[in-house]
Amino acid sequence: MVSKYQLFIDGEWVNSESGETFTRLNPADPDEVIGEFQKGNALEAKKAVNAAEKAFDAWTDTPAPKRAEYIYVAAQLLSENKDELSRIMTREMGKTLLDANADVQEAINVGFYAAGEGKRLFGFTAPSEKPNKFAMATRLPIGIAGLISPWNFPIAIPAKKVFYALLCGNTAVLKPASDTPLCAIKLVETLEKAGIPRGVLNLVTGPGETVGNALIRDKRVRVISFTGHKDTGAAIVREAGLKRLNLEMGGKNPIIVMDDADLKLAVNGVLWGGFETTGQRCTASSRVIVHEKIKETFESMLLDQVRRLRLGNGLDPKTDLGPLVNKTAQDKVASYVDIGKKEGAKLLVGGGVPQGLKGYFFEPTIFTDCTVNMRIAQEEIFGPVISILSARNLGEAIEIANSVEYGLSSSIYTNNISNAFVAINKIQAGLTYVNSPTIGAECHLPFGGMKHSGNTREDGPEGIREFTELKTVYVDYSGKLQKTYIE
Ligand code: UN1
Repeated sequence: MVSKYQLFIDGEWVNSESGETFTRLNPADPDEVIGEFQKGNALEAKKAVNAAEKAFDAWTDTPAPKRAEYIYVAAQLLSENKDELSRIMTREMGKTLLDANADVQEAINVGFYAAGEGKRLFGFTAPSEKPNKFAMATRLPIGIAGLISPWNFPIAIPAKKVFYALLCGNTAVLKPASDTPLCAIKLVETLEKAGIPRGVLNLVTGPGETVGNALIRDKRVRVISFTGHKDTGAAIVREAGLKRLNLEMGGKNPIIVMDDADLKLAVNGVLWGGFETTGQRCTASSRVIVHEKIKETFESMLLDQVRRLRLGNGLDPKTDLGPLVNKTAQDKVASYVDIGKKEGAKLLVGGGVPQGLKGYFFEPTIFTDCTVNMRIAQEEIFGPVISILSARNLGEAIEIANSVEYGLSSSIYTNNISNAFVAINKIQAGLTYVNSPTIGAECHLPFGGMKHSGNTREDGPEGIREFTELKTVYVDYSGKLQKTYIE
């Protein structure tokens, strides 16, 4: 019996009016059906926005420290159910249990951090230019939030959007990726158990073209927070009209390995950054820019390690790489391998679908002798494919690092402090790591990209900024009309 799941609108679990549903299969074993989910459409999106609208005043009037209590309890419940949630995640989208655990842990940490913000939500005061006049800026919620989340962090990313949006006093509609509806349902159930008032958080599963677009076009939705592909982000910009847009998009994240680096450390970093979550991270280390002096040694050390990686079901603790999320992803990665070969890059290892595994697996793949303009050195593949380029010096390495339209994460391996600081200053990316790979951002520091990787920062204090309006307030207690910049 396949379990059937519903939409969450105005505090009730309901079917979509069309009666249409869709199923999700386990990508490691497509014979296993994860569940049957409601194919919501524009009508359901509208109902969810109606519910969020109705709930807004009471929620906004609830003191922030009180709102925070719901989030605190939700984080506690996530923590109690961590093992079960991780197993669901592994079955639903294939990441290893270790990786799934980290995903749930991130959601828990975000929850506790955001709950702490309930007693801060700091604005600021500033001296006025005039006597007997008080000036300050305070934070107000933006309104109804449309939260559109991806499948690669199926609990952490929706959780951070939901927690910050609600903590700041917004009400919300969550539209999760159709590859991971179950994780989103589990998150919403958690908030329901925490006692969140009806209508404050609504969930509509279904296609982006209908549900997502309806949220984006609805004038009552005042802020959209989206994580996903840059083409979708660009489409959102075209459709949304004047509302706050927080867009987190892709990356083509470089690791620079200098000739003075600890090569063993760099090899481990490249493996972790390139292949964790089977390369399906916007922060994945998909380009490695190696100093030409150590290229050969570095490649042979890397090859030696890649050959030891084990593919398999993420539930098996011995697995290093789970499957890709679906067949389309597997086909896309395969097509990039063809492109790389045609472009003249040298395939060092991998490049194919492994034999004997049922799911949507792909071998960890490394191309070398790539040049800057090759598509495999420019475009986000979102799979276990690393492109190696070489550079004669740090200046050239940084130029290569900056030669893509993305600018999310970046890294340099070096033992020279000057090299490190030059890279920190010159790489055009929202994050730069020194002597660690491009993945693994911590949830209390700003996260986001430059250039086409995004237009905002999430996390930590930035999470508050994402979901609040600043209200500037002047209180004149002079008893006179004071004319600014005139007298
Ligand atoms: C994403 O892949 O969409 O730093 C963002 C990291 C993760 C990034 C998640 N926290 O690797």
